[in-house]
Amino acid sequence: MIDVAFLGTTVRPAGTAVVIDVLRATSTITLALASGYERVLVAGSIDEATALRTPGRTLAGEVGCARAPGFDLGNSPEEMLKPRGSELVLATTNGAPAIVAAASCADEVLVASLLNLGAVCAQLAGREDVLLVCAGTDGRVSLEDVYLAGRISAELEGDRTDAARTAEFVAAAYPDAVDALQASAGAVGLRREGLQTDIAFCAQESIVEVVGRLSEMVDGAAMLTPAPTASAGVPTVKLHT
Ligand code: MLT
Repeated sequence: MIDVAFLGTTVRPAGTAVVIDVLRATSTITLALASGYERVLVAGSIDEATALRTPGRTLAGEVGCARAPGFDLGNSPEEMLKPRGSELVLATTNGAPAIVAAASCADEVLVASLLNLGAVCAQLAGREDVLLVCAGTDGRVSLEDVYLAGRISAELEGDRTDAARTAEFVAAAYPDAVDALQASAGAVGLRREGLQTDIAFCAQESIVEVVGRLSEMVDGAAMLTPAPTASAGVPTVKLHT
């Protein structure tokens, strides 16, 4: 069955939970792993991320879309293009807590964005219990997350719930991804912070082959690493920017 949770706070047990925060946490994680970070430690809060700081780890995160005070990087995918080391610690307002919540109840957790849409759909082929988890924004449903959930659902075989059908209808209402992202409330916040270039960047489809997958919990954080592919083990990075 393919199902959709429209808010990260409503995640439930599932065989595979696919967490979506297009603007911007799951786009940032995807690009960090594609660019060469070996691990992304996703923390449930800014304080938890700060506690994970050790020499060699890069801290990234946002408060109100702006870089968290004292952190090395914000939450823009393009900031991840040149890795500063092997481990990134990330804390964001909605996407990161949704990943930590999914890690507490799903058998497997993947991280999806438009940037790795094709690779995510390839990973999900044949999975029987898929929950697409839209992070949302501060308890409100986010258009861009539902859009991507609908795009993924439309690519998968099998029965779907009415929630999945609803997401597919939302996705079909937009001629392309950038229109859906630009129309979202999340985009308003990014434009307010002068981060509007992130919107078009996050709207790019299938530019990388890497899919972040929960590997283990480390001091309360969800450690994500690249999911092996069926044919060739850990995927080769193909980055076209
Ligand atoms: C979040 O987790 O709320 C988002 O990723 C916010 C952002 O765009 O930085």
